[in-house]
Amino acid sequence: MAPPVRNQTFAKPERRRRAAPRRREGGWRQEVERVLITEAQIARRIRVMARDIERDFRDREMVVVSLLNGTVMFLADLIRHLNLPLRLDFMGVSSYGLGTESGELIFTKELRLDVRGRDVLLVDDILDTGKTMSRVLPKIQALQPRRLKICVMLDKPSRRIEKIEADYVGFKIPDFFVVGYGLDFAERYRNLPFVGVLHPPAYKQARQPVGRK
Ligand code: PRP
Repeated sequence: MAPPVRNQTFAKPERRRRAAPRRREGGWRQEVERVLITEAQIARRIRVMARDIERDFRDREMVVVSLLNGTVMFLADLIRHLNLPLRLDFMGVSSYGLGTESGELIFTKELRLDVRGRDVLLVDDILDTGKTMSRVLPKIQALQPRRLKICVMLDKPSRRIEKIEADYVGFKIPDFFVVGYGLDFAERYRNLPFVGVLHPPAYKQARQPVGRK
């Protein structure tokens, strides 16, 4: 008969450590050089912009016209803070041939709402060279709105070619290649919750030129 085992020690089962979620190499963290405008800064600024717009547009129902696709995040955050009766419509504008700097714009979606005699707030994510606005503005003005104001999240005055200014500006920024919060490079990075500066190799290696339109 085997002798009783005394003081038997049991090796403690090795504590299994929960594996930390691994950051995906090659994800945006390597390509975004730094955060230029944080989520919190964006949220604070939008609340102030919304108050300014409310003050100017009170008493009448407004039509918010948003340019596709870059405005998606800004628009959603802005209008949820607008305590005003409004209707929403979209215009699609795209460059002819992806990523060229030709400035050749085509309209991919027209307005559906009638803006004649209405107060219109035109929303875009960034005012850069002003080429897009210089095509869109006369098109809307031809529809004879009562009032037409421009609201942009970002303004890069140093890149301006056309003589266009926005009535409401979130942030004036230097000439960095920015992505995130709706802005893309080659259709990527739109989902980042902040505005970041793209690491130059990320767009220099890409086949597409830097130009947005
Ligand atoms: C961006 C942005 C503006 C335009 C500004 O559009 O949304 O519409 O560029 O540039 P500009 O002042 O030099 O004309 P983009 O071509 O990136 O399309 P998207 O909105 O689909 O991102």
